[in-house]
Amino acid sequence: MSSNVRITPHPSFDVLAATTAARLITRLLDVQSERGEATVVLTGGSVGIATLREVAQSPARLAVDWSKVNFWFGDDRFVATDSPDRNAGQAAEALLNHIPVDPKRVHAMAASDTVADLEESVALYTTDLADAARAEWENDDDATGDEAPAVPRFDVLLLGLGPDAHIASLFPEMAGIRTQGVPVVGVRNSPKPPPLRVSLTLETINSAQEIWIVAAGADKAAAVGLGLAGASEVQVPASGARGINKTMWLLDEAAAAKVPAELLRRER
Ligand code: 6PG
Repeated sequence: MSSNVRITPHPSFDVLAATTAARLITRLLDVQSERGEATVVLTGGSVGIATLREVAQSPARLAVDWSKVNFWFGDDRFVATDSPDRNAGQAAEALLNHIPVDPKRVHAMAASDTVADLEESVALYTTDLADAARAEWENDDDATGDEAPAVPRFDVLLLGLGPDAHIASLFPEMAGIRTQGVPVVGVRNSPKPPPLRVSLTLETINSAQEIWIVAAGADKAAAVGLGLAGASEVQVPASGARGINKTMWLLDEAAAAKVPAELLRRER
């Protein structure tokens, strides 16, 4: 287990969501003080959305300059804009509608009623990422290389975890987890409904400075155990998630049940 992987159990779902919200606010503040702006990639799923609700309730949210926070999504369901299944809609209801964001800095994946097909949504997000990356690169005096990267800097990338160890919409053995060389992929026949989705690829996920995998419930314990056991990413997508500087597994006790005690870092 490399030293930059931290596994932290929390006593309950609610404490996990509230603590992850506090961590996120603190991380955004730290990055903003260094760089003037910060970027977070949001996730769907029970813990991901509950975390956003906790941010919206936290008095500390008032310390963040939300107009200088860039929001992206790790995946979204390819459904209509007003569908309750949309991660972007759930994130808006939980947080984004309640803080003074700059709408130009909120990057949702195109919904099915706004484009011709899934491929167009993938292409639009690919372009959105590339445009943001180029703007960042052109404004960065320390930029290296002779061309901009495909995606901008992600300071924190949140990931939910499926019971099958899927992350974002990258499912075991399916085409998405095998996709390389592109930042975004269209997913069909998702084992988790709805069937059509848009997802960042694993290599894009791993371009993040920090990846926070958030999971709660006994039904996730096996996936956590496999994810930490070094299994192949095609069979266990979560095992392939590795942030550049840090990878955190933020769990409740039930989801942490199969993690060897010596790997757990109890912060209390
Ligand atoms: C999605 C999510 C997905 C989710 C996990 C965990 O769009 O469905 O991005 O990756 O985070 O399936 O979801 P639960 O926490 O609700 O089980």
